[in-house]
Amino acid sequence: MSSQIQFPKIIGHRGAKGCSPENTLASFKKAHELGAQWVELDVKETQDGVLIIMHDDDLDRTSNYKGKVAQTPWSIIKTLDAGSWYSKQFSEEKIPSLQEAVQLFESLNLGVNLEIKPCPNRETSTSILVADFIKNNWPKKLPPPLVSSFSMESLKIAKKQNPELIIGLLFENELPSNWKQIARELNASSINIDDKMANQKTIEDILKEGYQVLVYTVNSKERAEELFKLGVSSIFTDMP
Ligand code: G3P
Ligand code: MG
Repeated sequence: MSSQIQFPKIIGHRGAKGCSPENTLASFKKAHELGAQWVELDVKETQDGVLIIMHDDDLDRTSNYKGKVAQTPWSIIKTLDAGSWYSKQFSEEKIPSLQEAVQLFESLNLGVNLEIKPCPNRETSTSILVADFIKNNWPKKLPPPLVSSFSMESLKIAKKQNPELIIGLLFENELPSNWKQIARELNASSINIDDKMANQKTIEDILKEGYQVLVYTVNSKERAEELFKLGVSSIFTDMP
């Protein structure tokens, strides 16, 4: 049975992805401005082991640079323009380090779902860095983050490194046959599922086992209401 953490109903997906450049400080500020109490963000590791906020393995889509995160050092990544691809008005936005983002969260009192999104073959190092970062640097005044990942391997490594972590398992198409076993092993608090698999039966199956259900990415108010009625705790939305 999972511990019952109180998650807010609305979590800003990559900040406020629908109206600002995702995973930037501007996006987190926007989500806060719109009233979100929590944001979701994706964390990976630069070539030289700095944790940054970034969704893709490549820098191409969300910056003015072409290259792989795992092959680019922080000294280059920190200089990139992470806003112009979205709109010229965000041309000053940078790719934040986790450290920089957490300073902002502390000042705004924003809660966080930290998704570990390791670059290929970086599952171990990224998970250990994240687990240690939370142990050593998470601000006392913030609620502890929900740590999620599609990589069960990453979650296992992170939990072993820091057994205090609050864990959410991320699934995209269906619940794998061994989901209960993994959830028990990691003492998961939530199961975070794609809206396309969020039917009544799946939601009930998860709730029955004592885990909270979080659903991504929901941008319709009607759909959100429907999910809350089915017992879903929170939705991730681009428009918090
Ligand atoms: O954590 C929910 C959601 O962010 C998972 O999908 O691809 O947006 O990271 P993605
Ligand atoms: Mg994510």
